[in-house]
Amino acid sequence: MKINVETGKIENVKTDAAILPVFEDEKPGRIAERVDKALGGTIQKLIKRGDFKPKVGTAALIYPEGKIAAERLILAGLGKRADVTLDRLRQAAGKAAPYARMSGARNFAFVTDGFGLDPQESAQALTEGSVLGLYRFLKYKTDEENDRKKEVEEITFLTEAASLVRTMQKGVSTGEVIAGATVMARDMVNHPSADMTPTVIAGIARDIAKKHKLRLQVLEKKQMQRLGMGALLGVASGSAQPPKFIILEYRGGGKKPFIALVGKTVTFDSGGISLKPPENMDRMKDDMSGGAAVLGAIRNAAALRLPLNVVGLLPATENMPGGSAYKPGDVLTTLSGQTIEIISTDAEGRLILSDALAYACTYKPAVIVDIATLTGSCRVALGQEATGMLGTDEKLKQKMREAGEKAGERVWEMPLWEGYYDLIKSDIADMKNTGGRDGGVITAAALLSKFVQKYPWVHLDIAATAWTDKDRPYTPKGAAGIGVRLLTQFLRDFKS
Ligand code: BES
Ligand code: MN
Ligand code: ZN
Repeated sequence: MKINVETGKIENVKTDAAILPVFEDEKPGRIAERVDKALGGTIQKLIKRGDFKPKVGTAALIYPEGKIAAERLILAGLGKRADVTLDRLRQAAGKAAPYARMSGARNFAFVTDGFGLDPQESAQALTEGSVLGLYRFLKYKTDEENDRKKEVEEITFLTEAASLVRTMQKGVSTGEVIAGATVMARDMVNHPSADMTPTVIAGIARDIAKKHKLRLQVLEKKQMQRLGMGALLGVASGSAQPPKFIILEYRGGGKKPFIALVGKTVTFDSGGISLKPPENMDRMKDDMSGGAAVLGAIRNAAALRLPLNVVGLLPATENMPGGSAYKPGDVLTTLSGQTIEIISTDAEGRLILSDALAYACTYKPAVIVDIATLTGSCRVALGQEATGMLGTDEKLKQKMREAGEKAGERVWEMPLWEGYYDLIKSDIADMKNTGGRDGGVITAAALLSKFVQKYPWVHLDIAATAWTDKDRPYTPKGAAGIGVRLLTQFLRDFKS
């Protein structure tokens, strides 16, 4: 897909569809007014009659029939002017772009003047919204009649201010990079687990490393044994797929300390011997969403040449039952030396993360961020509207909150108070891997906190946000690619 920035008046642009943003609480703005005049008042009529209410994420189609140069005019609702945010631009574009495609357009021109927001950031948000809203996963559709051929090929963001073009182009290229990495993460998560094994993910990491000249190390089972990654090996023991421990380093920050990003990469979570119920078990192919987010963020750090050193750590394995599988009652010795009694083999994420977090500490990192589809209880607490956040460092949590607001991937904090640690005390080992139903998000994070030493650390529970059950403005049903934009924004704003 080609994305351009051009100057000109929308009335004169020859395009399959002109997209015109409209605010809810005011008469059509300056540009819309001109267009409306050219059309003989159709826009006003639509709004007055109540046939089009310009709330965020609504759209209406008008055939201009030669009165302006475009084949179609699409009105994109933006809500109240006072409430306009970058994320609302993303949402408006995310709705209007697939609406244009559905109506038959193969290209469209988007009016970008008059939002009252930073023009570079606006261009970035509109690019992200368009690309992510147009996303589809058609890899396994063989039907000749499918929509694959009907893709939008070209997008033009239009401004009447020639002086803004260069600035907007910068926003567009940033948006293209970030949306591209998000699409990669969505694709990885949407793939069936049979085709997205630890080995395949290591290959994807290798491709990223090659493209951006990054250092990649993939530890095999033998090396894990030598190092003593007993938790990762325990979880992997029931699977026929060999586990991988993927280490991807981006060095753009000279002698600065590393930022460590750790992503849970369980390519399928059956629950193991503590087998999950069959209902929705197919969804458990998304249990590698944390790893996909980390790969996306590292790819972005490299593509955007951020002045940072970042290491991505992906403990990758399946969680399967079998004759050699680990069992409830077993005690695993982790890389850190601490022991964990297994109560449920379905609480596997915290186990593989305990080894990865201990490994992260060997970098003496500035901060450690882990991201994981860790607990169903996070969904009970927050639903699909926010990612759960817990951590040990106030400044770090604040930075993550701000990144979330900006990226449109919000996080919400939950407490890590002392009392919760009582729930994971074990009679025979240093701790146990579940703390019962109470505060499940928190007891999982409490266990993780025992493996980060004194390094500033934040944990992101994306169990509910990695996958969306309904179409959202720029996130169609399925894998959301969650975390890529959040972590990328966090890195872009990071000051060591
Ligand atoms: N991968 C799951 C968490 C999950 C559940 C993600 C639902 C997405 C949707 C995780 O490994 C898990 O099974 N957690 C258990 C922990 C329990 C056994 C303490 C859970 O949340 O039920
Ligand atoms: Mn599990
Ligand atoms: Zn899991």
